[in-house]
Amino acid sequence: MEIRVFTTSEELARAAARRVAESLRQRPDVVLGLPAGRTPIGVYTELRRLAAAGEADFSSATAFALDEFVGIEHTHPASFHRFIREHLIEHVGLPHERFHGLNGAADDLQAECDRYEAAIQRAGGIGLQLLGIGGNGHIGFNEPASELPAPTHRVTLLDGTRRASAALFDGDVARVPREALTIGIGTILKAESVILLAEGESKAASVERMVRGPITPQLPASFLQAHRAVEVYLDRPAASRF
Ligand code: GLP
Repeated sequence: MEIRVFTTSEELARAAARRVAESLRQRPDVVLGLPAGRTPIGVYTELRRLAAAGEADFSSATAFALDEFVGIEHTHPASFHRFIREHLIEHVGLPHERFHGLNGAADDLQAECDRYEAAIQRAGGIGLQLLGIGGNGHIGFNEPASELPAPTHRVTLLDGTRRASAALFDGDVARVPREALTIGIGTILKAESVILLAEGESKAASVERMVRGPITPQLPASFLQAHRAVEVYLDRPAASRF
């Protein structure tokens, strides 16, 4: 893993956005895997600026959202599909028919996961996967467990993850869905490159275990040790356990 530590959140966002823009220059039809969450907001803001300045061209790119809550439509305020569309896709000229999200409100959730996995494979797999990390070491919604399914799948959320997501539901943890759909660890590991972003003291322990600990399904991000092209962008608090 290549670890990069930044003094400010702005520097981290600028560097990660430049890295994405570089990837678009090298391969205009790159397939991006994109997370929701607080951490990538600065990167998406910077990517909007680069796109407006003509320094990032998304017109031939494809993008897949990383995960979604079960039971909510893509128009719901807490939808990750909506989040990524509003923070990035609508503003950078990526054609909307090439932005894919998981439908958490599908009648048949297994069929939805299979459809999504097939769409990713049809697109040629993920070229550049951006990730955040949960305080418990999850990536996407791949929660710590005794084993981790490889492809896109349905998952039961842990209490801590539901509490951490309450802000998206007016602070009411009871309204946070108990399940989610997520791209699996196998799909993430098949991406050509991975950039993981982490900010803040609350991520320091899971970041340290991701980099130094054993590869274990109890810390899903540790599987990234098995990937040959992972860059980790950290602010100082997230890097404070090294
Ligand atoms: C969420 C999402 C992840 C995200 C992570 C960190 O639950 N499922 O995709 O990367 O937790 O979120 P944040 O960046 O808001 O800390």
